[in-house]
Amino acid sequence: MGNWKMHGSLAANADLLAGIKAGAARATGEVALCVPFPYLEQARSALSGSAVTWGAQDVSVHAQGAYTGEVSASMLADLACSWVLCGHSERRAMHGESSDVVAAKAATALAAGLTPVVCVGETLSDREADDVERVIGDQLNPVLALGAEALSRLVIAYEPVWAIGTGRTATPEQAQTVHALIRRSLTEHGAGQVRILYGGSVKASNAASLFAQADIDGALVGGASLVAEEFLNIAAA
Ligand code: PGA
Repeated sequence: MGNWKMHGSLAANADLLAGIKAGAARATGEVALCVPFPYLEQARSALSGSAVTWGAQDVSVHAQGAYTGEVSASMLADLACSWVLCGHSERRAMHGESSDVVAAKAATALAAGLTPVVCVGETLSDREADDVERVIGDQLNPVLALGAEALSRLVIAYEPVWAIGTGRTATPEQAQTVHALIRRSLTEHGAGQVRILYGGSVKASNAASLFAQADIDGALVGGASLVAEEFLNIAAA
């Protein structure tokens, strides 16, 4: 799954979407793109009828009303989105999204028929303080409380904050350790089959070793999703 973040233009996206669509058959699994809101219609028009699905990077907890600047889950469903990122670390850090708000966003997305991709991850200081398990647990708990049926319809992305956009990928073993922890919590809540993506400086050169880990089911890819060939090489891995 690509996460374009706040990158793109109509002209640049046209090339990127065409390139990814043309090479999508190389993928060994599902391929999806989470694009900025203004480009959802462009993604729909370029990708409809292909194997590549699309989604957004955030969603309002509210259904409709006086919430200037917000975008509702039903609007995303209207644009045929399959996915929406909930609680990306950049939104937690820069927009004050709490884990309760993130879980509420996931519930709103599920109610509209979208698949939320709930992002969790520790900061470098959490890791240095040996606090990873507690931090991930605190982020996951409100989501786990949604119950087994809801959990079976969402995706979790583990993205250590210190690995995002830094070129500093978690080692496959570091990532697997946290994925196993998340898997254990999901299993305890009757949802052991949930897909868990790894994110944080994923590139074609490290994708295969990450995907070889038992509990890593895919990747959430930022920077490398902006170059069709690099993204497709990850998808092929
Ligand atoms: P990155 O971003 O691949 O550029 O590190 C990942 C993400 O933030 O989803």
